[in-house]
Amino acid sequence: VAIPPMPKADPCLVVIFGASGDLTKRKLIPALFDLACIGCIAGQQFDVLGTGRTEMTTEEFRASMREAASTSKDARKFSDWNWEQFEKRLHYVAGDINDHGFYESLKKQIGELEAQGASSNHMFYVSTPASLAPPIVQGLGKSGLAKNAKGWARIVLEKPFGRDLETAQALNKEVLQVFDEKDVYRIDHYLGKETVQNILVFRFGNSLFEPIWNRNYIDYVEITAAETLGVEQRAAFYEETGALRDMIASHLLQLLTLTAMEPPVAFDADSVREQKVQVLRSIHRMTPEQVTERTVRGQYGPGTIGGKAAQGYRGEPGVKPNSRTETYVAVEFRIDNWRWAGVPFYVRSGKRLGKSETEIKVHFKRTPQAIFAKTPDDDIEPNVITLRVQPNEGIAMSFAAKQPGSQMKAVPVRMNFAYQDAFGGQAPVAYETLLLDAMRGDPTLFTRGDETENQWRIITPIEEVWQDLPAPQFPNYDAGSDGPEEANRLINSECRHWSRLGE
Ligand code: BG6
Repeated sequence: VAIPPMPKADPCLVVIFGASGDLTKRKLIPALFDLACIGCIAGQQFDVLGTGRTEMTTEEFRASMREAASTSKDARKFSDWNWEQFEKRLHYVAGDINDHGFYESLKKQIGELEAQGASSNHMFYVSTPASLAPPIVQGLGKSGLAKNAKGWARIVLEKPFGRDLETAQALNKEVLQVFDEKDVYRIDHYLGKETVQNILVFRFGNSLFEPIWNRNYIDYVEITAAETLGVEQRAAFYEETGALRDMIASHLLQLLTLTAMEPPVAFDADSVREQKVQVLRSIHRMTPEQVTERTVRGQYGPGTIGGKAAQGYRGEPGVKPNSRTETYVAVEFRIDNWRWAGVPFYVRSGKRLGKSETEIKVHFKRTPQAIFAKTPDDDIEPNVITLRVQPNEGIAMSFAAKQPGSQMKAVPVRMNFAYQDAFGGQAPVAYETLLLDAMRGDPTLFTRGDETENQWRIITPIEEVWQDLPAPQFPNYDAGSDGPEEANRLINSECRHWSRLGE
């Protein structure tokens, strides 16, 4: 089955705050470049104006973006010729986002670009640490840039959106004083992943699975986002953030929500987001005792990954030698609603683990009777549906089959669907999908204000209890392992356990 071409974006000028940062290089520019190469953005009517603290000229900005794009696997059509066409659309202006004068000079710069033919639709992309979002929003408001009489003005805000419930509420308030909710795009790039969107198609595009997708048939759900990567060049950000805020508060809660939500009445922004918020509202808020029972945090020490020695987190450049930042989290969430009462959702994420893999495993209940029990070694494994987000994107289903031979022996086998086999080709990269949606004005795959607040309502109580507890015994797992041993205390029982990474 061929992958159809992507639609076209509206003409627009993208203003990136934080353009000298890591995300712009690694994700935003490669994605925009790829969209330009495949004809999704209009050549003459598309420009990027990067802004940041770092003093550099437009030429220097272009050179640094070229270097990043030429080595990025997301800039799939990189060639000298393609880049030269694209880089003409890149511009840069340095400035201090806390200085009101900066927004006036930005306005002037935007006016000059428009005079040279740039579009009057403006997309402001805030790719800075969360604490810098409020002054940017205020600056856009005061300078009048947020209200655009000649076209649209939208704002895209990177995660984490605030750092707890209070800051997220304050940021939502600030943003909504300046922009209408329909023009606010809170980005979580997991929602741009094909396989994440496919959770909804799998559940609601088939009549086979939905009738059994509930507490009557499902025993527990396991959600894993494991990375072999460490903190790379992002220690300053990561030291302040930690795995709970970085991964669980957004990406993993999104995966949980899509797995657990009720069917929306239609696939449109409001219907989908309404159902997601309902799930978040039903997630049980833990008491302090429950936080200690149902969460485990970890930090990696030195180890070996893929045969190479890896240093411990406390030895990474920019990390405090006694840092108590967690690089691993495992949590047992409970959803207090009709569909999921009594079904635990075990969620874990960590850096520098033995394998990179993101997947959801739905474990079904055992058969009510073991009728093949007379054969030796007989133990029918419960069915498992695995939604593989990455790598080897696809879905697998395990069930029992009769092992050939004279005995009535049941053994687990797997049925496998692989995206690569079914669709071939290359699916769009998450940031491309989302940037395109934002440029076309479709917020369905973005997080609504109340959704972000409800995410923090779940996460902040955990952070608060952790803060009050004595410093944990870190490091407590080796780089290259499956995570801390202690995570097993959440889930270990006769019939439940964490899957080994790569299993
Ligand atoms: C980002 C986190 O949002 O997601 C990173 O800040 C993490 O720490 C990354 O590495 C993982 O994304 P992906 O698409 O590689 O799974």
